[in-house]
Amino acid sequence: MKSHTAVVKSDRTSLISLRVTLGKQLFNDVQLSADNTIRCASCHIPEKAYTDGRRVAIGVYGHMGSRNTPSLATVEASGDNTFFWDGRRTMLEQAVLDPLTNPVEMGFQDQAELVQKVEANAEYRVAFAQAFPDGKSGITPNEIASALVAYVRSLKSPESAYDRYVSHDDPSALSPRAQLGLAIFKGKGRCAECHLLQGSPAMLTDHAYHRTGVGLDAVNQHLPELTQAIIERSLHGAAIGDRVAMHADEAQLGRFNVTQDPADIGLFRTPSLRGVASTAPYMHDGSVATLDDAIDREVYYRSLEADHPLQLTIEEREDLKAFLQAL
Ligand code: HEC
Ligand code: HEC
Repeated sequence: MKSHTAVVKSDRTSLISLRVTLGKQLFNDVQLSADNTIRCASCHIPEKAYTDGRRVAIGVYGHMGSRNTPSLATVEASGDNTFFWDGRRTMLEQAVLDPLTNPVEMGFQDQAELVQKVEANAEYRVAFAQAFPDGKSGITPNEIASALVAYVRSLKSPESAYDRYVSHDDPSALSPRAQLGLAIFKGKGRCAECHLLQGSPAMLTDHAYHRTGVGLDAVNQHLPELTQAIIERSLHGAAIGDRVAMHADEAQLGRFNVTQDPADIGLFRTPSLRGVASTAPYMHDGSVATLDDAIDREVYYRSLEADHPLQLTIEEREDLKAFLQAL
């Protein structure tokens, strides 16, 4: 009785909080995988800024994917409106469902199989009825997506030293070394051209795609065959995700998998650098092990690309690192 009145009275805010709670439960439930061993949190581990510390993700039956798990704590904070390293999804509602049917992530055959498994759980039937009181009959993929989105959007990365420095106008929040690093980041390092400092908190991404120089060497020899096959298949959405997760060579072509435009070969989305000190290893394929290596790589490659050699001393690289650690 009591819970019934509570539901009737519930306003939008409490519906959202019901969905966040339900989303969190789903996010942490191994039943949401074909072999009952994998949950979202297996790869998006809260203590690692919602990454997994692995080079590439490992899903059901020990299957290995092709890409490094990105942080989810940056999704809301950076205002992302495209998802995955190649931006193949433009709606978070779609992005959260994709891993569930990805053969090397959570492994359901299709969304019907997922729904069946969730519906078999009496607790979920009650929780979904409360969180989606207007829903007609049974649990739908849309409702599962809404609950997961509510939870992912609720994830906040903690206020960083840099946030405090900017928002409370508190110079002592950044060490002198990190302040020097910030100057390089904005100035001669030109990092802020792509990892934008605009926004509150700072987005640290331009939501755009750039050639990375990471990983293409390995597939350069087979480029004509690879690109031809991708154009012939012309996949969309989740199908791209399934394909690239199982074909590391095609995954290296990045944005091209989505647009099939030769200009997009090897382009990847700029990741937000929020919490970057806790998201090693780095880059779309996890091929760069440490933050020092990631800085070296970016300093080298970005200056090569900009046709503008950038020389940073060891001291200056340390400054840059101190700044990245304050994000
Ligand atoms: C097996 C490991 C694994 C599991 C399980 C997993 N993910 Fe992911 N997630 C990844 C990887 C790897 C990517 C990047 C894939 C790509 O870009 O091709 C990713 C990307 C994402 C993104 C896009 C983030 C961005 O910034 O682009 C979202 C959102 C997401 N996952 C949510 C979820 C949710 C919700 C679940 C559970 C239903 C889940 N993931 C389960 C590994 C995993
Ligand atoms: C032209 C745009 C651009 C510029 C300039 C740029 N970056 Fe990046 N950065 C990217 C892209 C795109 C990636 C992802 C590359 C990949 O995964 O292959 C990236 C990745 C990174 C990563 C790894 C993040 C992760 O989660 O894997 C770090 C660290 C980084 N950049 C730091 C820097 C620093 C420091 C500078 C300045 C010296 C800089 N970047 C300049 C676009 C840029």
